[in-house]
This record gives sequence, C-alpha cells and structure tokens, in this order.
Amino acid sequence: MGTSNALVANEQNHQNEEVNSGGTSVEAFFAASVILVTGATGFLGKALVEKLLRSCPRISIIYILIRPRKNLTLEERYKSLLKNSVFDRIRWECPEVLSKIVPMMGDISQPNLGLSDHDRLLLIQNVNIVFHSAATVRFEEPLKVAITLNTRGTQRIVELCSEMMNLVSFVHVSTAYSNADLKEIGEIIYDTKITPEIAMDMADNLDDELLNSLEAKLRGDHPNTYTLTKGLAEMLIFKKKLGFPVAIVRPSIIGAACQEPFPGWIDNITGITGMIMESSRGRIRSALADNKSIIDMIPVDYAVDTIICAAWRNMMHRNDSLQIYNCVSSTSNPLTWGRFRQLVIKHSIECPSKYAVWYPGLTFTTNTFMHKLTVVFLHYVPAYIVDMILKFRGSKAVMIKITKKFDRVAESAKFFCMREWKYSSNNVQQLMKMLKNAVDKKNFNLDVNKIEWDYYIHKYILGIRQYVLKDDPDSLSTARNRILKFYWIHKIIQILMMFTLYKIIIR
Ligand SMILES: NC(=O)c1ccc[n+]([C@@H]2O[C@H](COP(=O)([O-])OP(=O)(O)OC[C@H]3O[C@@H](n4cnc5c(N)ncnc54)[C@H](OP(=O)(O)O)[C@@H]3O)[C@@H](O)[C@H]2O)c1
Repeated sequence: MGTSNALVANEQNHQNEEVNSGGTSVEAFFAASVILVTGATGFLGKALVEKLLRSCPRISIIYILIRPRKNLTLEERYKSLLKNSVFDRIRWECPEVLSKIVPMMGDISQPNLGLSDHDRLLLIQNVNIVFHSAATVRFEEPLKVAITLNTRGTQRIVELCSEMMNLVSFVHVSTAYSNADLKEIGEIIYDTKITPEIAMDMADNLDDELLNSLEAKLRGDHPNTYTLTKGLAEMLIFKKKLGFPVAIVRPSIIGAACQEPFPGWIDNITGITGMIMESSRGRIRSALADNKSIIDMIPVDYAVDTIICAAWRNMMHRNDSLQIYNCVSSTSNPLTWGRFRQLVIKHSIECPSKYAVWYPGLTFTTNTFMHKLTVVFLHYVPAYIVDMILKFRGSKAVMIKITKKFDRVAESAKFFCMREWKYSSNNVQQLMKMLKNAVDKKNFNLDVNKIEWDYYIHKYILGIRQYVLKDDPDSLSTARNRILKFYWIHKIIQILMMFTLYKIIIR
C-alpha cells in the first residue's frame, strides 16, 4: 500500500454507530429533508435524483443546480430532464414525487456558484443534505478548465455548505482514479504533489499557454487533468475543518444500471459505453487493453445506492468526520478485460442493433504496433470507403470524423485499460452491514458479489439498443438476420484474404 503519502488512515470505530443511528432507516433519515444535488443533469446525477425520490418519497425538496446551456433556459433544461427515460418508472409508480425537484440556476465555475442572492439564502437556510456530483469528466480537458470545475467548483460548494444552518450530511462524488498515480488505494486521503490552493492560484493567474506548458510537471504520474483535479478536490475537503460530516464516494468506471431504474438503463456514450456500443456495431475491432488485467466497473445503481447510504451513515458520525468509500467491484467480484471482451462479443451477436455496420469482432492487445496496424486497416480503410459512398450519394461524410474521435478517446483511456489498481473497500463492506432494516436491505444494494457479469453485459447491450440507439424492441430478429449476412461476408473476405496471402507466400 502506498502508505508513504497517506494522510489520514480513516480508521473506523464502528462500535457506537448503531447506537447513534437509533435504528433509523435510510428512508426515515431522508424524510422531510431538503436536499441539494449538483450534476443532476448528468448520468450519475439523474440516477441519484431518481433513486432518492423513488426510495425516499418523504423527502421534502430536491434542489438541483442547473447551468443554462446550448441556448436552453433553466426551465427548458429542467423540462427536458424530467422527460428523461430515467424517470419512466416514477412516472408509472408515483408521478407526484417529481414535483419535489426544484431547479435552481447555478454554475460551479462562477463566483458564488452563479447563484442569485435569493437562491443562495434559500439554500443556506433550508438545506440538510448535499450531494456534489457536478464535474467535468473529460480526460483531455485543459488544465485551467479542469481545476476551475473540479477543484475550485468543489471549494465553492464546500464554502456554501459551511454557511448552511441545518446541514447534517455532505457527500462528495469523487473517482476511484483520484489517486491513479498509485497502485494500491485504501479508503484514505493521499498527499498531492501540489496543494489545491496553489493549483487554483495558478489557474486563476497564469495564462492558458503558460499553464499548459506546466501541465506535465503538475500532473506528475497522473494520466490526465481529470484524475489530478479530482485528487486535488479530495485534498481540499480533507484540509478544511468543515464542521459537518463528510463522505467521499469513489466509484470506478460507472456503467449502465444492473437493475434500477431498469436493467441496462444508460444515457451517455462516453467511455466504456462508447467502446461497448461501437464494438457491438462492428465498428471498433481493436483496442489497447490487457486481457489479463482487471477492468473495474460499477453499475450506476450500485454507485447511487452507495452514495445515498454514505449520506445516511454520516448521521452517525462526528461533525468533522470524513469517511471514504471505494465503490469498486474488483475487490470481491473481479472481471478481466479478456472476459469482458468475450461477453461483449457474445451479447453483441445475440442482441445486435439494426445499426450494426459489421460483424462484431473486438480484439485487445498491449502491442501498440499491432493495434495501430489493425486500426489503419480495420477502422480507417472501411471509414474512408463508407465516407466515399456517402459523398457519392450526396450525404454528409461522417465516418472518418467518428473514427478519429474514437481514436482520441481510446488513446486517453489506454492508461486505464493496460493496468490495474488494488483497492480496499472495508468501509463499503461496513456500510453494507449497517443496513439492518429489511426495507433498506431490499432498497439499497451495495453487494457487488451479486453482479453476474454475463447477465449484466447482456442487459448493458440491450440498454444501449433501447436508450442510446433507440432501436425498436421488435427489430431484434431483423437485426439478427442482418448480422448473419455480415457473418458470411466477413468469412468470405477472411477466406479470400488468406488465399491471397497464401498465393503471395508461395510465389
Ligand atoms: N462516469 C463515470 O464513469 C464516473 C466514474 C467515477 C466517478 N465519476 C464522478 O461522478 C460524477 C458525475 O459524473 P457523470 O458521469 O454523471 O458525468 P456527466 O454525465 O458529464 O455529468 C456531469 C454533471 O456535472 C454538471 N456540470 C458540469 N460543469 C458544471 C458547471 N460549471 N456548473 C454546474 N454543473 C456543471 C453537468 O451539467 P451540464 O448538464 O450542464 O453539463 C452534469 O450535470 C463526477 O463527479 C465524476 O467525477 C464518474
């Protein structure tokens, strides 16, 4: 374990926790509470708000911070959020709770969080529980932006929390890769190479060019600005004497829902979801990953349940306590990249999309040369051909652009696909044990041992079909016939290529 720079061994004294809880269930803890959620328009935030409302219907209000974007007003963004498929189950089961979501204009990159005086006061006077999930998750984000959003933004939220008169619990959503520069990661805070204060000062005072030229030095062994600035945010929380109980939840790679609100629910195509989607459509044939390494993936519903239960458990702690939860699957239910690849191919063939462009056949390699060769022949050449056909038909050529984009994403993700980390997750195990109440046990699932990866990837691929590609459920048999044709064309091409190679060799 990288103890040399471990700042706080978050040693647990669990003895009095149950006494302090007074046997309160999670649902009872949230009853009548006023909550603030940042990042509620994002993938994790949406699922969090949905689960809070559905499992704790006695919540009084959930304020969600929304920034105006893409020429949409606050009201328009709020309405579009409520239409999201994540709320379909609530719409059927208890639609009235949706009125508890109250949008509030805010931007964590702005002084005072961009809140009006009125809204700020409202939050200070009323909020009891805060979930901070807003962040930029782009790996290649310029350093200035990443510091402003992930570090300074967290500082602004923490300052707001410090002013809150009735705050009882604060949960900061971090990432299992906030210490990606280490190999073994405990549920503790590790020292950072620079202090968050210096980093924020530099972001405020240096111009972009100078800051970018210093980036590699500031990053050290961090792979990107995202992990660096999420680590700095943790340090910032650790260093402040906050006066309220804090939990930091560190999910690993968050994937589609395993069960809730629906098996396979997903609403983004970034990261691992993009990889699954594009390889299931036959577009991605090669990626840099080590078949033997562990891919640490956590379904979004597990991450959400951990975050909610962490907020509840805060109630049992001192006002200045800091609990850290490594929300990971590798500790007790590891999945290798090799097995992941097999499952993706298996279920892509069983449940293809009507948008498949070729027979699925993903390979992982750690050999950069072989990977580049495959990318040129199996990604770029077909993309050029398709673009030429599109142009000939008078349509817009998009395939090269998409291929280049995936290439960039794959390049920035290779750090995570070629190595593995050893986590401890005792605090999550303990949290699970604290759920004594039968309803809580049923409502909140933290036990990653229950994830059956075969079932999960099956649902994931169906989820991508339904929620991302918007494939008709009854298009499955047509899509299967299509994929069968691709199979035979694929085989014929392979045989022709082998034959040509044979001819070349014997000549
Ligand atoms: N996805 C993962 O695999 C993963 C894994 C581990 C940890 N996490 C953590 O989980 C959290 C949520 O991630 P996610 O996957 O849900 O990301 P996401 O879908 O990109 O959502 C990010 C959220 O942050 C909001 N946001 C960004 N900049 C903002 C600003 N200046 N002011 C106010 N809100 C702002 C976004 O609002 P807009 O809608 O306006 O953009 C969005 O609601 C992050 O803290 C991330 O570090 C994610």
